[in-house]
Amino acid sequence: MYRALRRALFLVAPERIHTWVFALLRGVTAWSPPRRALTRSLAPRDPVLASTVFGVRFPGPLGLAAGFDKDGSGLKTWGAPGFGCAEVGTVTAQAQPGNPPPRMFRLPDDRALLNRMGFNNHGADALALRLARHVPDVPIGVNIGKTKATPAEHAVTDYAESARLVGPLAAFLVVNVSSPNTPGLRDLQAVSSLRPILAAVRAETSKPVLVKIAPDLSDADVDEIADLAVELGLAGIVATNTTVSRDGLATPGVRELGSGGISGPPVAQRSAEVLQRLYRRVGDRLVLISVGGIETADDAWDRITSGASLLQGYTGFVYGGGLWAKDIHDGIARRLHEGGFASLADAVGSAVRRD
Ligand SMILES: Cc1cc2nc3c(=O)[nH]c(=O)nc-3n(C[C@H](O)[C@H](O)[C@H](O)COP(=O)(O)O)c2cc1C
Repeated sequence: MYRALRRALFLVAPERIHTWVFALLRGVTAWSPPRRALTRSLAPRDPVLASTVFGVRFPGPLGLAAGFDKDGSGLKTWGAPGFGCAEVGTVTAQAQPGNPPPRMFRLPDDRALLNRMGFNNHGADALALRLARHVPDVPIGVNIGKTKATPAEHAVTDYAESARLVGPLAAFLVVNVSSPNTPGLRDLQAVSSLRPILAAVRAETSKPVLVKIAPDLSDADVDEIADLAVELGLAGIVATNTTVSRDGLATPGVRELGSGGISGPPVAQRSAEVLQRLYRRVGDRLVLISVGGIETADDAWDRITSGASLLQGYTGFVYGGGLWAKDIHDGIARRLHEGGFASLADAVGSAVRRD
């Protein structure tokens, strides 16, 4: 049924329909009777799906990835469509408009998206106000990025300022150094640049801190960041952001759309490889959140058994619709029961440990 609805929704420009659908979701869930009804039918309820990760209780492993709710305008929304958590942001220390539109495109033949949003957001202080006013029904992580106008040499203070503002109110913080849409941002993944940023954010907050990395890093860079994260006592790594690669795309005319990061199935293979590499290197010393091209319960299960304690998705939700999170959670629960796992945590990394 969603396929027919999706055909209609896809007649509207991507950013516009995103705004409308998000407003509708917010509107419906602002009122507690429909929010509770949706939550009752869509939220993960099987206790086998629940887990405590870096001290935070998650009702189910699949969360909404960063970028969908950039300003935390839907803090009370995300439990209702069945997500176990939401990562809001990216927010930056100063509000900024992002790149000029059009800046979001569909690649329908790849079930993918291309975006060059450029961290359009109202600023970390505005998000802090929202977080202070709302009690969400699922854990809310906050993704922080560098303000575009801040030069790279002042990146540390920019990230630290965001962490100071939102840290006390977030369930966890994600340091985003992997968006392809802020010039020079991904260069901050070099360990020499990343170390002071992560150390400053850690010093600013007692909340779990994770770093979000790009799928386009070399294996050696992935290893270096993993080692740094362990050394600095980070809670974990979010892998991965969108890719700048245009390899293997089926949708015609992608090159003409210009720059940006690709999400959805085209990033899935590298995202899964990065996860496996990270798990083999750090095992249980870091929490791994896998994101990138997760579409089905099979994909989700592969990521869990490859070492992911939590999962996230954005593009799968756009193409999959309102039952997407529930279907994935139901599929994971079925596999946990069939496999005789007493809890989600027991399944994490089980395929790698068997090797
Ligand atoms: C339109 C759009 C905007 C995004 N904005 C952000 C962002 O602000 N910060 C971030 O860390 N990731 C952002 N992402 C990346 C997603 O969080 C995710 O890492 C990526 O899309 C891969 O997951 P997916 O294949 O499930 O979409 C964005 C993705 C899309 C499609």
